[in-house]
Amino acid sequence: MSQADSGAGDDRLTDGCDLVGDPRQRVQQLRERIREHNYRYYVLDDPSVPDAEYDRLMRELERLEREHPELDDPDSPTRRVGSRLDSGFETVTHDVPMLSLANAFDEREVIEFDARIRNALDRETIAYAVEPKLDGLAISLQYRDGRLVRAATRGDGYRGENVTANARTIRAIPLALRRPEDAPAALEVRGEVYMTRSGFKKLNQRLRDEDQKTFVNPRNAAAGSLRQLDPKITAARPLRFFAYSAIAESGLADTQAQILKQLSRLGFPVSSLARTAAGVDELFAFYRDVAGLRDKLDYDIDGVVYKVDDIDQQRELGFVSRSPRWALAHKFPADEEMTRLKGIDVQVGRTGKLTPVARLEPVFVGGVTVTNATLHNLDEIRRKDVRPGDMVIVRRAGDVIPEVVRPVLEMRSGNPPKWELPDQCPACGSHIEQVEGEADARCSGGLVCPAQRKRALEHFASRNAMDIDGLGSRIIDQLVDAEQVSDPADLYRLDVETLASLERMGQKSATNLVRALENSKRVALGRLLFALGIREVGTVSAANLAQHFGSLQRLMDADAESLEQVEDVGPIMAAHIREFFDEAKNRDVIRRLTDHGVTWFVDQPPAPEQQPLQGKSYVLTGSLEQLTRSQAKQRLERLGARVTGSVSKKTSAVVAGAEPGSKLDKARELDVPVLDENELMALLESMSD
Ligand code: IVH
Repeated sequence: MSQADSGAGDDRLTDGCDLVGDPRQRVQQLRERIREHNYRYYVLDDPSVPDAEYDRLMRELERLEREHPELDDPDSPTRRVGSRLDSGFETVTHDVPMLSLANAFDEREVIEFDARIRNALDRETIAYAVEPKLDGLAISLQYRDGRLVRAATRGDGYRGENVTANARTIRAIPLALRRPEDAPAALEVRGEVYMTRSGFKKLNQRLRDEDQKTFVNPRNAAAGSLRQLDPKITAARPLRFFAYSAIAESGLADTQAQILKQLSRLGFPVSSLARTAAGVDELFAFYRDVAGLRDKLDYDIDGVVYKVDDIDQQRELGFVSRSPRWALAHKFPADEEMTRLKGIDVQVGRTGKLTPVARLEPVFVGGVTVTNATLHNLDEIRRKDVRPGDMVIVRRAGDVIPEVVRPVLEMRSGNPPKWELPDQCPACGSHIEQVEGEADARCSGGLVCPAQRKRALEHFASRNAMDIDGLGSRIIDQLVDAEQVSDPADLYRLDVETLASLERMGQKSATNLVRALENSKRVALGRLLFALGIREVGTVSAANLAQHFGSLQRLMDADAESLEQVEDVGPIMAAHIREFFDEAKNRDVIRRLTDHGVTWFVDQPPAPEQQPLQGKSYVLTGSLEQLTRSQAKQRLERLGARVTGSVSKKTSAVVAGAEPGSKLDKARELDVPVLDENELMALLESMSD
């Protein structure tokens, strides 16, 4: 690796003018470097040079190959894209059939699987290799003497399609093995071709911009992209690859886990989540860990796979019909299901924005029963042509809000009427405005509208705003409906008695909430500004405004022109800010907040010497008692630390509160120090003046 690093450095120096005089040597060098960069980028996920540098190397190599046709090599990185197939894909036969996996949908089926194996092998506990089940399509890659000679789809398991030209365009697939001397001369590697979620989104956006048909999900997009007759099209699609098995006469390791390590050494990407597990409890622990990571991954997985680790034991167990007895796919609950759309309601947001919400026949999807799903806006309903009464596909991926993906048109009977927006706000009866050129319609009622009021209060209390722990929508809805609260200032009049009288609110939660309100009274000006919910003003603009004006009064007095001096503030935002403070009701809320003891300060960026945690990074997991996570983050950041979401070797420490998540396991795995809440408080105290 260090060679690649220093190599990249040389290139920067020689940029454009080759110090290596001999074109043959330079071509050789460029090919090696580009292969190394591909490997670091697609396999190790750890690129050492920026994309622009990679592009420069590619361009130089292309130029040299054009000028020196005698230096041609079919496996040059410039030759990944070949020419179009005119007569479709050739059918190829798999030497070893590509079988499928038996599925389990609950723990009982896993227990039975393990029992069958223990029985058959007559063992107490079985060692398993466990892996995520990637949701892409299977591919077989044949290597002869270290070079990729054939790639084929699974097809019916016995015969597939020869997609070599397309597979060659996938940069995660090595055209030549990294250490051919360590590999069997005839090697078949199998794995999954998939598309990243981010790549899928970009691809669909591009297709939409070009008025072309989009793909339903990353798996369909991967399949559609791999089966293109023109490799140029495949090359332009963000396809990736993970290897999960190898076949050879000899020369392979004797456990599945070791084989994956071997594949990784040969230059193949393998899942970093793969590990070994003994007995069903460890299988379940793996299932839960991976399920917990599911939304954070940039690729879709639909379950985990358990494989008997020992290859001899696998042989002994053999196959039943079309699947191995030694492996099982433990599936996650489906994240797409079909159900009936009973009707469409509109929900009113904080700024009056109307969101159509689908009312559904209850359906179990993504592990929960879903009865409502978002339809985004009227344009979206038109584009998808969703109509009340339709059968629809509902998707709930991880913790993402469930959405209606599309209607199942084949199941629509007759020609049901299209849905129209109501003329009046369903919450307050005010008229609805649809601004030309804007997708969203709005209720014109402002704070007269109880729905807008509720959402505005939720926003005021939210984490990046006043951070009032325990004040959620359920309580706010009750307070507004009972006319106890109509604007943020009213919140600070609440006492324990009033709160304790609300539904599902005990004395203890009421006391805690009053304390949280009290704690929120001293606040950074930027947060207060964000909390007020001025249209367009997000956390960053709010912080910029606070920094720039240094006081709320100066900001309230500023004209549009001076507002536009602030970073990120354009004419539209400036107009919204002016409009907000020109409104007497809003000024009154601010005055009453002050009367109730709310005070604010302006965060001056601390001088570097006051940032003792500069260069350190922390990860927070689990819940803390004395601070919210967001407050802990703020305090660490004020001391110069970075607070990030995922643990790596470079993390300085993981702060683990009660019921920590998988980040704690990760910290232990990587030997990253772990702090408990008291240790964190001690650290913060010792560094604050
Ligand atoms: S092993 C004998 N491991 O699932 C079957 N398959 O139904 C050997 N898949 O077609 C397959 N992730 O495309 C295996 N870690 C993994 C996998 C995996 C996804 C797919 C594969 C196969 C299907 C099996």
